Amino acid sequence: MKRFLLLLPILCIFLSCAREPRLTSPDGHLSVLFRLTDEGAPRYAVLRDADTIIRWSPLGFLTDSLDLSRDFRLLDSRGSSSDEAWETVWGEERLIRDVHHELRVSLLHASGLHMDILFRAFDDGVAFCYDFPEPKPASLTITDELTAYRFTADHAAWSIPWRTEYYEGIWTRSPLSQKADTLCSPLTLELADGSYAFLHEAALTDYPAQNLYMADGEFRTYLTPWMDSAACVLPDKAYLSLPFRSPWRFIVLAHDLPGLVASRIMLCLNEPCRLDDTSWIRPMKFIGIWWGMHMKSMTWEQGPRHGATTENMSRYLQFAHDHNIQAVLAEGWNLGWEDWRHFSFTEPYPDWDMDRLAHLADSLGVQIVGHNETGGNAADYEQQLEDAYAYHQSHGIHAIKTGYVSPIIRTRDGLQLNKSQSGVRHYRHVIETAARYHIMIDNHEPVMPTGLQRTFPNLMTQEGVRGQEWNAWSQDGGNPASHVTVLPFTRILAGPVDFTPGVFSFENPAMPGTRVHSTLMNQLGLMVCIYSPLQMACDLPENYMKYPDAFRFIEQVPCDWEQSRLVDGRIGEFCIFARQQRGADDWFVGAVNADDPREAVVPLSMLRADCAYTATIYRDGPKADWQTAPYDYLIETRTLSSSDTLRISMASGGGFAIRLTPDK
Ligand code: NOJ
Ligand code: CA
Repeated sequence: MKRFLLLLPILCIFLSCAREPRLTSPDGHLSVLFRLTDEGAPRYAVLRDADTIIRWSPLGFLTDSLDLSRDFRLLDSRGSSSDEAWETVWGEERLIRDVHHELRVSLLHASGLHMDILFRAFDDGVAFCYDFPEPKPASLTITDELTAYRFTADHAAWSIPWRTEYYEGIWTRSPLSQKADTLCSPLTLELADGSYAFLHEAALTDYPAQNLYMADGEFRTYLTPWMDSAACVLPDKAYLSLPFRSPWRFIVLAHDLPGLVASRIMLCLNEPCRLDDTSWIRPMKFIGIWWGMHMKSMTWEQGPRHGATTENMSRYLQFAHDHNIQAVLAEGWNLGWEDWRHFSFTEPYPDWDMDRLAHLADSLGVQIVGHNETGGNAADYEQQLEDAYAYHQSHGIHAIKTGYVSPIIRTRDGLQLNKSQSGVRHYRHVIETAARYHIMIDNHEPVMPTGLQRTFPNLMTQEGVRGQEWNAWSQDGGNPASHVTVLPFTRILAGPVDFTPGVFSFENPAMPGTRVHSTLMNQLGLMVCIYSPLQMACDLPENYMKYPDAFRFIEQVPCDWEQSRLVDGRIGEFCIFARQQRGADDWFVGAVNADDPREAVVPLSMLRADCAYTATIYRDGPKADWQTAPYDYLIETRTLSSSDTLRISMASGGGFAIRLTPDK
């Protein structure tokens, strides 16, 4: 990522008194306060203007030999500030401006250990991390992180329980006081004053993922533990080699949902791009030999319905070429699917001719997206990694979808949780290795994203969501229509998601009790609302060809943006996004609705004022309803300008999509 250093003024932090340093955001509205108690216990508080959002809350650690909750002495506190803009390799925004004030509080523990706490205040949130600046001691075993959040009111929060396998759950809303489970990070809060907050972590690279639980009226941290050789949870959470800096803990504070969605704090808290050459990293849409397996009309393993055959793939590659789709995924191309014990990532099934397909893809100008399902055997994958990536690279493959289907993965450290420190290390190793082979990663069953794509922009997208596949086979009937109106305000704030939108066939004869709770237009809306720089249109070519006029939107919609904004939305009810195509003046608007029909209002003030636009509007028809008439839609073309406001009806489970092209 290119970085433009605009200016770096130092020392505009307001330290009210050296013993109780205070950090204020650049616009002066947010403050972070720090102090040590009489016992030398570190505490912080967060204020918005005169309102306390988080009252004095604990910081620190327990290790296997030290109590780092108390007995600290304040050595020093230093402020700095920065205002810098950087350009993303891909993203919802091309340019991101990072304006913040920073405060470094240096503490000395009675044991002789130095621990600094870095605070950052942005206009739209605050963050902090722990920094052990000296290699004394050389290592620490963290048994508990004591970071807590004492909110001053019983806010409503959207969350999923921490044990949710691969984060594939339905987010639920309830007051903090009623959250009985330990919860995954992140959390989205609806504050009592009508504003919003997003609590998460950034730059998770060598540490366990954080989880949160309520106890005695405060949110406490529960770090994902290590496990022993019998897969029993250990007290150990993190093994640190000093010097060491923890991931950032951050909270976005926004007055409204557009502000929450626009925050780029998480990305700014990650390190700048480490890759010298990013020219090979390209956002793209893809189709795949995939939905057929989930709908049970094809199989991964060999047999009469084997999906990933040379013949099928040739057809898909040709279809992609003909319809402006840049790539094709194929699952089930390699040995191992019969028993999931050992997958080979260099040996195809006999009915898959990799050389021929690579040649065909190249001649058509279409990419192949490789697929490496590990069945959770990360250690086996690591052993094959160099060979696997060399093999893919030699066949011109620059994107791989990885997968870890297993509640507990086998790492080089034995059986571990995927969001443990061991899992986090594995995923990062994969991303760094892939970068050396110019391979982009789409990671399924990941650790929750934390913005690492800034540092390694070949980490394109991840699952970590209850995605479209649940609509093919879930015993509970499929994702509720509201699900996709929650995700943009929860999971997707943590990073791009491979949800796989774009289904054009809603019933599954093989699973009659399960279906997609959406209209066709909702599926088009998802192509804009769900952000992913590798965006899958997941249905079969033959289903797309039943509605070629609607499929035209999927052919045209990009997945890399100059700028993005939430036009309107309510969590769990609806959302409308507008995004400008990167490198062009076209705008794309997408909307999805939950169960209650409604009229959407879309002011077009984001358009250039100096020209008219041709708008192609794809919207629910008068009878549309996800249960009774999902295929009822209308397409109309109009000339519009920035002073117009559109009013569009959305059906139950409906939505719409618009392409706006400036008239030349
Ligand atoms: C789960 C993934 O989420 C899905 O996309 C994939 O098809 C299967 N695993 C098989 O790898
Ligand atoms: Ca999955």
